[in-house]
Amino acid sequence: MKSFRALRPALLKREFLAAASSRGSFPRRVGASFTLCATTTTRQRLNVRHYSSSQKTASIGTDGLKVDVSEGVKKRESLPYFWLRDNCRCASCINQDTRQRNFNTFAIPSDIKPSNVSSTAEGVSVQWSDGHQSQYDWDFLQFYVSSDKRDRSVTHDLHYWGAEIAENQPTVPYNDVMSSEKGVAELTAKIQKYGFSFIDSTPFSDPDLTRQVLERIAFIRLTHYGGFYDFIPDLAMADTAYTNLALPAHTDNTYFTDPSGLQAFHLLSHTPPPGVSAESAQGGASLLVDSFNAARILKQEDPKAFEILSKVRLPWHASGNAGITITPDKLYPVLELDEDSGELHRARWNNDDRGVVPFGESFSPEEWYGAARKWDEILRRAESEFWVQLTPGRVLVFDNWRVMHGRSAFEGIRRICGAYLNRDDWISRWRNTNFDRKKVLDSVIG
Ligand SMILES: [Fe+2]
Ligand SMILES: [Zn+2]
Repeated sequence: MKSFRALRPALLKREFLAAASSRGSFPRRVGASFTLCATTTTRQRLNVRHYSSSQKTASIGTDGLKVDVSEGVKKRESLPYFWLRDNCRCASCINQDTRQRNFNTFAIPSDIKPSNVSSTAEGVSVQWSDGHQSQYDWDFLQFYVSSDKRDRSVTHDLHYWGAEIAENQPTVPYNDVMSSEKGVAELTAKIQKYGFSFIDSTPFSDPDLTRQVLERIAFIRLTHYGGFYDFIPDLAMADTAYTNLALPAHTDNTYFTDPSGLQAFHLLSHTPPPGVSAESAQGGASLLVDSFNAARILKQEDPKAFEILSKVRLPWHASGNAGITITPDKLYPVLELDEDSGELHRARWNNDDRGVVPFGESFSPEEWYGAARKWDEILRRAESEFWVQLTPGRVLVFDNWRVMHGRSAFEGIRRICGAYLNRDDWISRWRNTNFDRKKVLDSVIG
């Protein structure tokens, strides 16, 4: 085990000042849980008296640490010793640079017990039978006494929308995104809440500037279509996206195990056909549909159809390009629900990329077609559809797991650039620009 001296000097200084400033009163809470072993040691060296809160106490129990906190509903009386020892976040148990666990859990005796436990205002100090000392803050102990696990869902603050979103389009200025983390925070928070956002006033003379603003969110995903793209309708790739045909609302990458998290479009130019003025060259309007809103409507109007679309698993594929046959690792339903909450987690809908509706699922193919017909009808309702004419300078970024996109047929040549970004990468960026470090770590570690 690393000694206390192994801690970084800056950490020691911060803890020293915090503990020193609290002498003569209750030690104030300092730092995140991973610094607490250091806090205790510093406090002991400074001879600061241990404090036993009358509302929060911990003691040695038979099966685990008995935790008594006055607030909240208790799910359990005690926390198992081995579990607690495995969750020590002290500077020797967690590598301070990588945030990874720094010890072999299974080298710790399975019957490890505390030799001493003391409560302080900040948390509980545990002296283990193997000599290790741990400190757990009250937030951590209280959480796990009253809850089973952290809620990993990122879909708390959703704003469902239909056609009316046209009156209130989420938008962030290009300069804000380029110049500050606050701009990235605002952009990712809007995508999180609405499922999409525009980036306005983006330069359109050079597509590379679009690439750069997207890379402020995260790196661009490489697929069999390439990375950052800049194309005109020439069927360069065998996909209807590379034509001027109308496309109904759909999800991209239904054929990937992990469909792209974000997709971005920037219309750089629209050149009308010869002899047609720019004003009369029609079409090419973009369509967005909030599939989470549509699913909510489906559940209200036809709960059985919702159940069928969430249970029947289907094959999806991309097979149009020579030598490339992409299909997800397993069959996936149209509506994937969160196992804990039952809430919609991801929608996957592209009728053109769908394979054969299988037999042997919990519902028959006929039942699936009936449910899908209802779903398709909701998606095509005028009140579900947000139609918007993209213009040079206005980058559209949307959550491909939630917001479906399409377009009307168009005349002439449209030059569009854009990219795919991975879900995990943009959610990481959203977390880290919108929340403090402790909240981010709690939400991913537990
Ligand atoms: Fe598409
Ligand atoms: Zn430790």
